[in-house]
Amino acid sequence: MSALTINDVGPRDGLQNQPRILEPADRVRLVRALLAAGVTHVEAGAFVSPKAVPAMAGAAEVLAGLTDAGDAVLSVLVPNVKGYELATAAGARCVCMVLYGSEGMAQANVRMNREQAEEATAEILARAKQDGVRVTVTVAAAFECPYDGITDAGIILEMARRFLDTGVDEFCIADTIGAANPKQVQKLVGSLAAEHGASRLGCHFHDTRAMGLANVYAALEAGIRKFDAAIGGLGGCPFAPGASGNVATEDVVMMAEQMGFDTGIDMDRLLVAADLARELTGTAPGGRASAWLRGERK
Ligand code: COA
Ligand code: ZN
Repeated sequence: MSALTINDVGPRDGLQNQPRILEPADRVRLVRALLAAGVTHVEAGAFVSPKAVPAMAGAAEVLAGLTDAGDAVLSVLVPNVKGYELATAAGARCVCMVLYGSEGMAQANVRMNREQAEEATAEILARAKQDGVRVTVTVAAAFECPYDGITDAGIILEMARRFLDTGVDEFCIADTIGAANPKQVQKLVGSLAAEHGASRLGCHFHDTRAMGLANVYAALEAGIRKFDAAIGGLGGCPFAPGASGNVATEDVVMMAEQMGFDTGIDMDRLLVAADLARELTGTAPGGRASAWLRGERK
């Protein structure tokens, strides 16, 4: 069976936009529930300005509560050098940096232009190489931006060349507002995979227009074997109006396993994590297959 890696971004992308702000200890509980289900990659938090994203305050405490996570890859988002320094001081061994497909998204997210975000990323990447820290670069608004409209695919292809050449461990294409359709995914991700191979590419989809799973499928067909997803379909970006939750981890795991991929994830335990996400946030809707999956397991 072909292996598929799921990176659960619920504890970061999912929690950053919830009405309820969770204490670090509860975020640790959520990450632990995911690890217990066999999820090997989790985005555990963000070292960002707590004024910009109050829900991510205390990221160092989250990492401190997870020092026994073993081989699991716990990543944290960093927007600038300050974030990188705080993250590595807190023990982070994997950082996620964000690039932007549009100027509007870059400004709204980090008050930088695209070029400044690229410079910050290049600087952090150079340091991370020296420090032996793993680096994922995620391109936000890779298909469409809530401010600037359709993203120019040429921008994404050019960024991919630059950053894959400079040695990022992973280059992830994000449909931040959930606007992409499978044809667009097939075209952009197919071009990237044809040029670079799929081994260092990943995809990140939101389910705003109910095309999350269809987009995962299109990317799978293009050879992608690593996907971001959020437990319980948590999500939404505070700086991207109209964005709703990430594609739910339960749904992606269900579809992938049914198609013969091996995610290494235990569905019963994953549903326990989904229950916890709902209990803690009061909002995690659960995947589209939630009712069926639960009925199936009674
Ligand atoms: N971690 C913690 N605090 C940080 C920080 C970081 N990585 N970077 C800056 N700060 C602090 C500064 O020390 C300063 O604090 P002060 O007001 O107490 O002096 C404050 O944040 C503002 O710093 P400044 O450099 O002026 O940044 P800014 O106001 O232009 O904001 C960012 C820029 C990048 C810090 C902010 O927009 C941010 O954190 N964005 C993250 C957004 C995000 O996570 N989006 C989701 C990703 S898809
Ligand atoms: Zn997202």
